Amino acid sequence: MSIDYKKIVADIKGAQSLDNLEDLRVKYLGRKSDLSAKLAGIGKLPAEERGLAGKHLNEAKIALEKALVEQKNRLESDALVAATSDNTLDVTLPTNPHYGHAHPVLQVIDDIVRTFAQMGYSVVDGPEVEDEWHNFEALNIPAGHPARDMQDTFYLEGGNLPRTHTSGMQIRFMENNKPPIRIICPGKVYRNEDEDARHSWTFYQIEGLVIDKGISLADLKGTLLAMVQGVFGKDTQIRLRPNFFPYTEPSVEMDATCIMCRGDGCHVCSGTGWLELGGAGMVHPQVLRNVGLDPDVYSGFAFGFGPERLAMIKYQIPDVREFWRPSMKFLEQF
Ligand code: DAH
Repeated sequence: MSIDYKKIVADIKGAQSLDNLEDLRVKYLGRKSDLSAKLAGIGKLPAEERGLAGKHLNEAKIALEKALVEQKNRLESDALVAATSDNTLDVTLPTNPHYGHAHPVLQVIDDIVRTFAQMGYSVVDGPEVEDEWHNFEALNIPAGHPARDMQDTFYLEGGNLPRTHTSGMQIRFMENNKPPIRIICPGKVYRNEDEDARHSWTFYQIEGLVIDKGISLADLKGTLLAMVQGVFGKDTQIRLRPNFFPYTEPSVEMDATCIMCRGDGCHVCSGTGWLELGGAGMVHPQVLRNVGLDPDVYSGFAFGFGPERLAMIKYQIPDVREFWRPSMKFLEQF
């Protein structure tokens, strides 16, 4: 009734492949194996022999199973070592990598931020929920002023509001910092507007502010030129047209050479050769007084524009709503 399992264990340890090992498992532990037959025959043995025979056969079974598992682990780890030491195959390489990237509007914001950082500007952040003082009053837009209609406002309970523009950051920064000031503030703004291909109820703005002694409109023009050349290339020019904002005097609208036709006139620029980028101007003396600065000592300029618009031009996207639809198909193009 005894079984020479030491010899079988040696046999298992000599298996050269997983297939070979499986054959040995079937041979020694399978249903038709000697061991299975002997285990099944225990019941037919005389009662006094059963205990010893059972003990011996179970020991054999445990020893064989252990040897099979150990040999399987050994063969698998040998196979892995062989695969990884072969220079032509890197088994750790992902087979289907999926890389994310920055949103196209944030890529444009990054380009602009980098250009201003190179000119020594600090990037500041502010609250999206503003009070009327910072969003309107300190910017020379008192209640009832027609300029409030330019920006349809959502109001919150208690009188605060989701900021309609980033210009309130000018006030916040000047209230807490002394000149010289050179900042840009990118952030989201909110307007109570119907959506269409060119308008959205929420979008990004980038506000800029420079305050020091002796700052002039020429400094503003040079700065805006450096910004558009940094984002759209060295052959881009700008032009300033008179406009009105309550917080700047004089106020201007800034245009840049159309990046599609380079000034010849095309469908993107409606044949003018210029693209409207945003508003700017010299900070109004009353705004300086509102934050405790003396307009006889200090002057400065401010500007504000929308990076979505720049991204639409740069990537030729006809509908601003595309940016904020959760469509990976659209976003993966950039
Ligand atoms: N706040 C203006 C807007 O939301 C943009 C703007 C215009 C910002 C002129 C300025 C500025 O700082 O001087 O349309």
